[in-house]
Amino acid sequence: MKTSKIKMSIVVLLIVLSITGQEIRSNEVVTITGRHIKKRIKHAEKFSSFFHKNVDELVEILPPTTHRDYTSLKPTNFRKVRLKSRTGYYLEVLNSGKVAGNTIETNYSVLEMQVIAPQIKRIKSVLTGKYISINSDGKVKTKTNISPDIYFIEEVLPHSFYSYFSIKYPKSTKEPPWLLGLKQKVGNKSYGVACRASRTLPGDNETQFSVMDF
Ligand SMILES: *[C@@H]1O[C@H](CO)[C@@H](O)[C@H](O)[C@H]1NC(C)=O
Ligand SMILES: *[C@@H]1O[C@H](CO)[C@@H](O)[C@H](O)[C@H]1NC(C)=O
Ligand SMILES: *[C@@H]1O[C@H](CO)[C@@H](O)[C@H](O)[C@H]1NC(C)=O
Repeated sequence: MKTSKIKMSIVVLLIVLSITGQEIRSNEVVTITGRHIKKRIKHAEKFSSFFHKNVDELVEILPPTTHRDYTSLKPTNFRKVRLKSRTGYYLEVLNSGKVAGNTIETNYSVLEMQVIAPQIKRIKSVLTGKYISINSDGKVKTKTNISPDIYFIEEVLPHSFYSYFSIKYPKSTKEPPWLLGLKQKVGNKSYGVACRASRTLPGDNETQFSVMDF
């Protein structure tokens, strides 16, 4: 049942891609200039099937009583950590609630990793009490209240790196996942800024993190 559903969605995806392929290619030339966006379009087919299959499977393993409403589930475990991107920045939440990056460890980079289900996580800033979120524009922000956009799927990568992608976005099954990422701040190597999640790609160093116990 599950396998046939997945096969079905892949078939639908391929049909959609073949129908819209021409349009996407012309958009790429006419309106889209960013390297990452071009790369996302090129890899859309591969990553979107991986991503949507994962989200469906992970949400399905949640207790049936929740009707997939993972926001009603209490965390089963809490762990104080720091997240350091493979680009060299610790993920920080500043007093203002802004998400940033720093090459050194600060109080702003102490995070509480909350486990909702084995691969479903929430990331809370210990100093501010705010949760990391990804909004519908693909921007990395923080939120005080529990809502679907503070939930991430954690993927374990080779060499003990982890990546975190939004469980809620993107809505479109044609799009690859939106990941948490940190890149260098323009003009100052000491600081990092959050990448626009809607422009990230799995495998990029910006989106790979080491998780260090605090
Ligand atoms: C971090 O917090 C501790 C305790 O709240 C404080 O003593 C220390 O000065 C802070 N360090 C920095 C770098 O802000
Ligand atoms: C980066 O910014 C900090 C503070 O804003 C400053 O002290 C430092 O010198 C800057 N580093 C570079 C390489 O510009
Ligand atoms: C990613 O980071 C590793 C070091 O962790 C580095 O060797 C590699 O060149 C980086 N890749 C890119 C594409 O920057």
